[in-house]
Amino acid sequence: MKASNQKLGTAMLPNHLGIIMDGNGRWAKKRGLPRPAGHTAGANTFRTIARYCSRIGIPYLTVYAFSTENWKRPQDEVTALMRLFKQYMEEALRDFTDENIRTRFIGDTSAFAPNLQDLIRRTEESSKDKTGMVLNIAMNYGGRAELANAMRQLAREVAAGSLVPEDINEALIEKRLYTAGQPDPDLIIRPSGENRTSNFLLWQSAYSEYVSMDILWPDFTTKDLDRALMEFAQRNRRFGGI
Ligand code: IPE
Ligand code: IPE
Ligand code: MG
Repeated sequence: MKASNQKLGTAMLPNHLGIIMDGNGRWAKKRGLPRPAGHTAGANTFRTIARYCSRIGIPYLTVYAFSTENWKRPQDEVTALMRLFKQYMEEALRDFTDENIRTRFIGDTSAFAPNLQDLIRRTEESSKDKTGMVLNIAMNYGGRAELANAMRQLAREVAAGSLVPEDINEALIEKRLYTAGQPDPDLIIRPSGENRTSNFLLWQSAYSEYVSMDILWPDFTTKDLDRALMEFAQRNRRFGGI
């Protein structure tokens, strides 16, 4: 069957799509290039895919750009990634004014350099009234760190007397996550052939469908996304029922 979002129809699209943008380093290595060259190529794929998701009517897109564990990488690679984030945000502030995308950042952004934090704030601020797709960019994001943060907040509320432990339930925890108020991801795509979550949306992905694809992120095209969406549309989700 030919994969095409026109044939899929919006009813079959995920309400929230997550993408673990993986395989940049291997893409560069295959070409004898330094790893940062793979990140530059991956950033271009991200631009194309985010616009495409918005155009076909996906309401929420979350992309995993930098994990809490990615600080372990060599300093020059981390520096190159920070430079790319900065470049993307400057470009978004300058050129994306006609795009109806609302950009948000999830993760502990306080760890970034002050100028990057400022760009993050300005990017969020400049797109906050947009009514189209919500784009969450996960930066210095870890599912465990997010849960620890939520628990810390709840503990503070209990200590302050504004909350009793008996009132802590799933809905209340959800409200303390970075994605508070957003629907859970229906589909998570991981290119590069790896089959693991790597700490992405741990709480939110309890019932997400996973599609792992044997293609490196810089090579990922809108056709590959169509293929994943087609596969998702054919999944039988039971949520524990029958
Ligand atoms: C994903 O690509 C980008 C980040 C984690 C920042 P990788 O850099 O992990 O690429 P591989 O997995 O080493 O090929
Ligand atoms: C996950 O990829 C993080 C991002 C894509 C940003 P990693 O490349 O860091 O994950 P592992 O190390 O293969 O599990
Ligand atoms: Mg990787």
